[in-house]
Amino acid sequence: MSEIKVLFENNKKWSLRMKRNDPLYFQKLSLLQEPQFLWIGCSDSRVPANEIIGLFPGELFVHRNIANIVYANDINCLSVLQYAVEVLKVKHVIVCGHYNCGGVKAVVESRKLGRADAWLKSIRDIMIQNAPELKQLRKKMDKIDRLCELNAIQQAQNVCQTKFVQRAWKAKKTLSIHAWIYNLRDGLIKELYVYSGNHNSMKNMLI
Ligand code: CO
Repeated sequence: MSEIKVLFENNKKWSLRMKRNDPLYFQKLSLLQEPQFLWIGCSDSRVPANEIIGLFPGELFVHRNIANIVYANDINCLSVLQYAVEVLKVKHVIVCGHYNCGGVKAVVESRKLGRADAWLKSIRDIMIQNAPELKQLRKKMDKIDRLCELNAIQQAQNVCQTKFVQRAWKAKKTLSIHAWIYNLRDGLIKELYVYSGNHNSMKNMLI
């Protein structure tokens, strides 16, 4: 069987399984999506957003790109963010990086990827800004992993600075912005920071 045929077979089985659990599942889902969370994550195939936090279709609005970057001029990411915050009224925006991220690794190793080199500019900037801290880490893997954390934090801060999030906070809406890091080695997520407009500053500092 061709690899694409396998996908259709899998899809049929999945659809049957879902209907067996709840005969009205697709009927209900097709009418409405009410996710409480927006996930901004890396495109990496090893970080399937819904699956690692146990959410079903309809429960998580998702945007993914290489190395989970939020640029102030990225019409794609900003459209997703505005729609999630203002139309879907999500309560949480999660920026989830992951250790050993290929995009971050390429920056640390000064390796050329092609089209993505320009995309990764934000990571290069974060590396330069944090050079003294990163220099103290002797192992390359530790440097990459710390930069993955710093990147998730910076991109969460970029989300905080968008006018949609600022507007929601000014209007006293419940909205938290989270910086998370996912560990490919054990499948666990760690929260790095939470930003909440009610306190207008960091609520938690776990690192
Ligand atoms: Co990645």
